[in-house]
Amino acid sequence: MALFLKRRSKMYLLDENARDCIRKAGRLSGEARELGRSLVSEGVKLRDVAEEMEMHILEHGGKLAFPVNLSLNDMAAHFTPNSNDESVFRSGDLVKLDVGAQVDGYLGDTATTVEVGTRNWQPLIQAAERALQLALEMAQDGVSMGTIGGVVERSIKSTGFRPVTNLSGHEMKRYNLHAGLSVPNYDDGALTKAKGNMLLAIEPFATNGQGQVTNGKSGNIYRVLRDRQLKDQEADRLFQLIKQEFTTLPFCERWCDRLHPDSAPLLRNLHRHGVISTYPVLIECKQGMVSQAEHTILVGNGGGEITTA
Ligand code: CO
Repeated sequence: MALFLKRRSKMYLLDENARDCIRKAGRLSGEARELGRSLVSEGVKLRDVAEEMEMHILEHGGKLAFPVNLSLNDMAAHFTPNSNDESVFRSGDLVKLDVGAQVDGYLGDTATTVEVGTRNWQPLIQAAERALQLALEMAQDGVSMGTIGGVVERSIKSTGFRPVTNLSGHEMKRYNLHAGLSVPNYDDGALTKAKGNMLLAIEPFATNGQGQVTNGKSGNIYRVLRDRQLKDQEADRLFQLIKQEFTTLPFCERWCDRLHPDSAPLLRNLHRHGVISTYPVLIECKQGMVSQAEHTILVGNGGGEITTA
């Protein structure tokens, strides 16, 4: 038998300090996720859970990679409560908790789904979890993104649900949450390969709906779009602080309250002037229920390292 020598792609370089930061960001993200899971229950405010999760990261030497997302039911992603949001979890809610920490710009990103008070959606929750496990096992040096997507797709379809095909996982780089490569939730034919030391967030979404999301109403998560000086002095003052605090990463209204006492109207002003953009809340097209599971993996030669476990 001939020995087949598989050509390995060149690994990314990663020094020990970077590796430590990636591990710490992953650990804090995972801890915040589990804390959130333990806090979600009927009658509890969404805002309180989001703030407790974020506080855990801040109090343990990390910063936030993005605002905690608490997306309910047919909302797949990108909802975070505002500072005046008094809404509470209700029995039967299907809650996606998506959280990310950063340490010196190195990122972790993880998510899980919990059901409030009922057990109607356990198979849907399991479908996303199982697909994630299989994808993590596949994510090795030299494996194509399309192949990983195919594993997610087949796994979810085998349970009778659909993957959400227009949402995907993503490569992460320093201070860059969505860097270049995407990790699809179906086989899109992408031949780009995972490389050693690549940091990937893999996040299958499963639904009993159509398997697509669409933009809902404009959300309350923002990011800096371009740099420009603004005529309105107060708006410009807030904008300078936002750039300093959040750099290139997503932020929300709740966080701006700490930067400026009157941030809500100023944020709308910044948005009108095109220097910040919002992430719309993403809703399943047929109002299907949506589950999500996500981990961050540092790709290796052979098995990778799940940093958010
Ligand atoms: Co992610």
